[in-house]
Amino acid sequence: MASSHIADPKPLADVPSDNATAQQEIAAEMCMMGDQYNHGAGFDVRTYSQSTYSARTNVYEFIPENGRTYHSYKAGSELTAWHILRQAARIYFPMMRFVHLEPFKFNNIKPDLVSSKSKKDWPKDLQHHLWLLTLSNKLYLAPISSPQRVLDIGTGTGIWAIEFATQNPQAEVIGSDLSPIQPLCVPPNCRFEVDDVEDEWSYKQKFDFIHGRLMFSCFNNPAAVIKQAYQALAPGGYLEMQELNFKVHGIDDSIRGTNLEKWATLCAAGGKVLNKDLYCTMKFKQYFIDAGFEDVVETIFRWPSNTWPKRKEDKMLGLYQMTNISDGIHGISAKSFTAGLRWTTQELEVFLASVRQDMKNRAIHAYWPIHVIYGRKPT
Ligand SMILES: C[S@@+](CC[C@H](N)C(=O)[O-])C[C@H]1O[C@@H](n2cnc3c(N)ncnc32)[C@H](O)[C@@H]1O
Repeated sequence: MASSHIADPKPLADVPSDNATAQQEIAAEMCMMGDQYNHGAGFDVRTYSQSTYSARTNVYEFIPENGRTYHSYKAGSELTAWHILRQAARIYFPMMRFVHLEPFKFNNIKPDLVSSKSKKDWPKDLQHHLWLLTLSNKLYLAPISSPQRVLDIGTGTGIWAIEFATQNPQAEVIGSDLSPIQPLCVPPNCRFEVDDVEDEWSYKQKFDFIHGRLMFSCFNNPAAVIKQAYQALAPGGYLEMQELNFKVHGIDDSIRGTNLEKWATLCAAGGKVLNKDLYCTMKFKQYFIDAGFEDVVETIFRWPSNTWPKRKEDKMLGLYQMTNISDGIHGISAKSFTAGLRWTTQELEVFLASVRQDMKNRAIHAYWPIHVIYGRKPT
């Protein structure tokens, strides 16, 4: 029978942001009370399996819209566009060079040699680093051992799949995505497929581990994807989802009435019009249990909006998250606001400029809960 428990820290999703006691506890945990706020400053067709060999060349064509590019395979099915590397990244990069450049992992992509398309995707790899910081350099939390077959759904640049394959040479790792934007040069035990995970899965062999990260804005029906993952796992296999809860939280009332709060609310409203539930992360644990997973564990971390926390680790997460959101905000927002809420691109640009200001404002004590959920298919 399915059971679940919540690991530390406590489940922020269950803590309403108007619950003053809970907010104080969280603030205390992050060392942010009173005056302690610190104001200091490949896709490789040669390795393709027979069942997926028929990728047409038009999946490599990207569709321009709102000054961004979107994949052409199942065009329009994803809410979040792929980033074009923004000028803002160049503004933040010198700061980051001083604080934490060394652990950056570009795998086989050297910063000076990246192609324009890889550069476009570079902020996603910055996001990968944010995850490593969050999970103490781990790629996953599930208690797996020596998995043989591993699937990374919505693999993006493939950076997670590539690193997992490198660390687990015994495993055959498949990364699947709507967009063929993965590097060509990958470990021999890693390959990529263009696929829509909301379609019926056609894998002939079962997986020992299935992983998905930051997919909360992607699916029309996340519960159905989790059910398909359950079906595709071997008995005893694990599914792990690593997701951001899009609802902006605060440790106090400083987010109330800000453009940052307004942006997140409007973005979710626009997503709803387009049949995407940006708040679905809060429901993932229940989706796991409903699908039949047992020993479901949910662990919740936090990404501050900038360097406002006192604790060094939180400050670092905040610095990366500020860059992450500021760089990616247009890609996150474009479809929700223009197609969903019918804003003009000019209106959106003006509004986003004010949201970026809020992201830099250390008097706004905002954070996003980060959920890691895993569960085991019964043996
Ligand atoms: C926010 S990115 C996350 C990338 C990657 N998981 C990571 O954490 O680095 C979301 C990815 O999901 C892909 N995606 C969205 N909807 C999808 C679908 N229905 N099937 C497969 N991939 C999808 C997008 O193309 C994009 O690469």
